[in-house]
Amino acid sequence: MGNLFAQTAMANVAARHTTSLNGKWQAIIDPTDVGTWRQVWKEPIAQKKTDFFEYSFEGGPMLNVPGDFNTQMPELTYLEGTVWYKKAFQSTKNTGKRLFLHFGAVNYMATVYLNGNKIGSHEGGFTPFQIEITDFVKQGDNALVVKANNQRLKDGIPGQGYDWFNYGGITRDVNLIQTNDTYIDDYCIQLKKHSKNEVAGWVKVIGSNLNQNVRIIIPEMNINYKTKTKSNGLAEVTFKASCKLWSPENPTLYKVIIQSETDTVSDEIGFRSIETNGSKILLNGKPIFFKGVNIHEEAALKAAKATSEADALTLLTQAKELGCNLVRLAHYPHNEYMVKLAEKMGIMVWDEIPVYQNIEFSTPGVTQKMSLMLREMIKRDRNRCGVVIWSIANETYTTTPGRDKALIDLSKECRQLDSTRLITTVTCNQGYDKNTVNVWDPIFNYVDIISVNEYIGWYVPWQGKPEDTKWKLVNNDKPVILSEFGGEALYGNKVGPTDEANSWSEEYQEQIYKDQTEMFQHVPNLAGLCPWILADFRSLSRLQPVYQKGWNRKGLLSDKGEKKKAWYVMKKYYESIK
Ligand code: GCU
Repeated sequence: MGNLFAQTAMANVAARHTTSLNGKWQAIIDPTDVGTWRQVWKEPIAQKKTDFFEYSFEGGPMLNVPGDFNTQMPELTYLEGTVWYKKAFQSTKNTGKRLFLHFGAVNYMATVYLNGNKIGSHEGGFTPFQIEITDFVKQGDNALVVKANNQRLKDGIPGQGYDWFNYGGITRDVNLIQTNDTYIDDYCIQLKKHSKNEVAGWVKVIGSNLNQNVRIIIPEMNINYKTKTKSNGLAEVTFKASCKLWSPENPTLYKVIIQSETDTVSDEIGFRSIETNGSKILLNGKPIFFKGVNIHEEAALKAAKATSEADALTLLTQAKELGCNLVRLAHYPHNEYMVKLAEKMGIMVWDEIPVYQNIEFSTPGVTQKMSLMLREMIKRDRNRCGVVIWSIANETYTTTPGRDKALIDLSKECRQLDSTRLITTVTCNQGYDKNTVNVWDPIFNYVDIISVNEYIGWYVPWQGKPEDTKWKLVNNDKPVILSEFGGEALYGNKVGPTDEANSWSEEYQEQIYKDQTEMFQHVPNLAGLCPWILADFRSLSRLQPVYQKGWNRKGLLSDKGEKKKAWYVMKKYYESIK
């Protein structure tokens, strides 16, 4: 059976010959994971009168796919364990065709079985993967079984501790994809770094016929560019293009057709340049200030995982209403609907992999997992011009063994994979000396943007007047983004002016924002902001029984989408930035 690890998924699945397997799936709930030694995927049938089996998909619960399993049955609310999913599907074996199973994401560990055989596995809850089933699929009926296990792993990415709800299951779309023997696996059609009219990229075909003619057709630009793949299946692409550049004001996208002799994939691609110049961030050559907000992939109103375009529209519309031109998708790649819709709505995207706080960097295999997640994220989103930042980690500590080397290596790999975007890592290693904030992190020498999480006014009390807060940057030649700041308040809890954090009041949170916006004037090289966070979100580590009840209440919006007083402070501040 050879290597049973899943493959990185082909790019742009939406443009492929797909059959959706979304919908109701049969399920076996297996909190103690006995199904593995029982081999439930074998689904034996009683042969003789004394045979019986203590499990079956028949007569069991049905779960929606895509969707987290925790919010579909009360008894699954806090499950961090195994759920077995089964989907029967019909298939025809077509000569010269290949068939793939594609998963948008399964949290956290997925093991996949087809017709009673294990065919692949994947680790990581927020990136796509595929498994080729050409040789495993049967003509007619097929039985697909997926073991989804969301147990936290010490050497996982993220590790065991994280401040969001651990939604488990098959959380994104599942598709069958049929291709010809040789198909277009991946491509990059973007403007060359620092250029506004030169497209530089490549097309990669996979299969037995690697020497192919390739064309890039952009009807609206009268582009009909011809090239050829080399024996490794890779074709270089470079051509002049006079186009309307993508920007938040004009989120222009072009229909782009990528054609090889045996495959055609069309996409909607925008063209823009993003770069830094000293402490400035330039979009299409002009300085831009990132008016951002953090978002978790949660449909707060449903208190469940956000999975659909409608969920994305709700969140992005709220961000737009706040006055944002950027969203930080925390702390992991969100679904493609979110990234594609943001681009259409003129909202720039900060994409991040969940290398979050306490990661076992020096444990064998961990850096490989980080690298795989980075490659999976970039392969999925590299043609999304809305994506302007790759973030390789959040709040990791320079004191953690192996961290610095791991992140330096990862930043170099990221630049190799894509040199056209900005790279950052988020620190909270700063020191507070009276009213001076000393920002340093050895990784900052390897990234384009200095990103700092600071909770002055909440976890860190103000040392004097906000406007007197001084910021000392070791790397003072790079743009700075305050990637998190804020505090908690329960919506509707209005107590009047107060200086008590324990009031959990809208007024206390509002004052934090007033003070922060005062301090921003004095932060050197400030090129962007991302308040933590757009909306209250679920987190099992938030235990305050009256004000939190399993929710992080740092939202500018409540879990019902209601605007807290701090919302208006942030909106007004963004309106003031031209
Ligand atoms: C951290 C972290 C977030 C967390 C936030 C908080 O900075 O990055 O994931 O939710 O602080 O404490 O609310």
